[in-house]
Amino acid sequence: MSEFQGKTAVISGGAEGIGLSVARAVGKQGMNVVIGDIDEPQLKLAEQLLCDEGIEVLALPLDVTKPEQWQQIATSAQERFGKIHMLVNNAGVSGTPGVIEKTNIQDWNWVMDVNLMGVIYGTQTLIPLMKQHGEGGWLINVASMAGMIGVPMGQAYTASKVAVVGMSESWRAELTPQNIQVSVLCPAFVQTRINLSSRNKPSEYQTASDNEQEMSPARAAMAEHMQKVIDRGLAVEVVGERVIEAIRANELYIFTHPNYRTVLQKRFEAVDQAFERAAASPLVSHLLDEEIDGFM
Ligand SMILES: NC(=O)c1ccc[n+]([C@@H]2O[C@H](COP(=O)([O-])OP(=O)(O)OC[C@H]3O[C@@H](n4cnc5c(N)ncnc54)[C@H](O)[C@@H]3O)[C@@H](O)[C@H]2O)c1
Repeated sequence: MSEFQGKTAVISGGAEGIGLSVARAVGKQGMNVVIGDIDEPQLKLAEQLLCDEGIEVLALPLDVTKPEQWQQIATSAQERFGKIHMLVNNAGVSGTPGVIEKTNIQDWNWVMDVNLMGVIYGTQTLIPLMKQHGEGGWLINVASMAGMIGVPMGQAYTASKVAVVGMSESWRAELTPQNIQVSVLCPAFVQTRINLSSRNKPSEYQTASDNEQEMSPARAAMAEHMQKVIDRGLAVEVVGERVIEAIRANELYIFTHPNYRTVLQKRFEAVDQAFERAAASPLVSHLLDEEIDGFM
């Protein structure tokens, strides 16, 4: 019997895209699936699709930026399925790419509230329940390749995803003794509607520029370029299956794009060279012999 059979997964942003792909993959493994999403019409379509595939599904409205809605998801999931064994913090938004001075604070707040605080609220609500039942489980946070290396013009998105990678590393160290396996999914481009995230932007984050009929030419060109890259991206169906493969192998970092290794290697080389220079500095070189404590 599969290690997933009969257990329950809660997936935020599960109405479409990567969240739905993971829902289908874990459902195929025999898990009960709870999908939460801010987009209720899309959520209904996803519920029907999963049902048609013979997956036990509960679909609930969820805005990940609202802790009380996470609480409702937890209560309803437990009422329907009993224990919760997996949390997939997937809901995310791209924000509006742009230069420093043109990225307004409402956009920063939206991206950080969904991509960072949403992950924190979900984890704070559901992990104690997994600790309580003591059967172990999985915490899968969806970051991005942008969590591994900064994306030009995507400052808020990068900041949120770097934070998700960091928290995942921290939580992995904390939760391994409880038999809760933590992984962080870091895809590059995948064919989803991420480039159209503002379709679900709540009014409290909207600004005058959101309502402008026409985008500036620079922003329009950037959006068009992003769309082309996403259209050429990985087929979304593959991502859920890749997650199953990787969590079976207890991988911390789940990569979907092995071709990005060269990009990261350049970053690692730069980091390594910076350490070389610190080691050669008469100001701090004496620390080379000091013991390191408190890091993984
Ligand atoms: N598609 C890519 O190329 C790509 C690459 C790297 C990382 N990611 C990450 O994958 C995750 C899923 O994105 P996707 O590509 O499937 O995009 P998507 O837009 O297709 O799906 C995102 C889902 O999240 C939901 N959502 C948005 N705001 C929400 C909120 N406040 N509360 C609850 N649900 C909300 C949307 O309604 C949607 O169903 C995101 O975290 C994204 O940053 C995507």
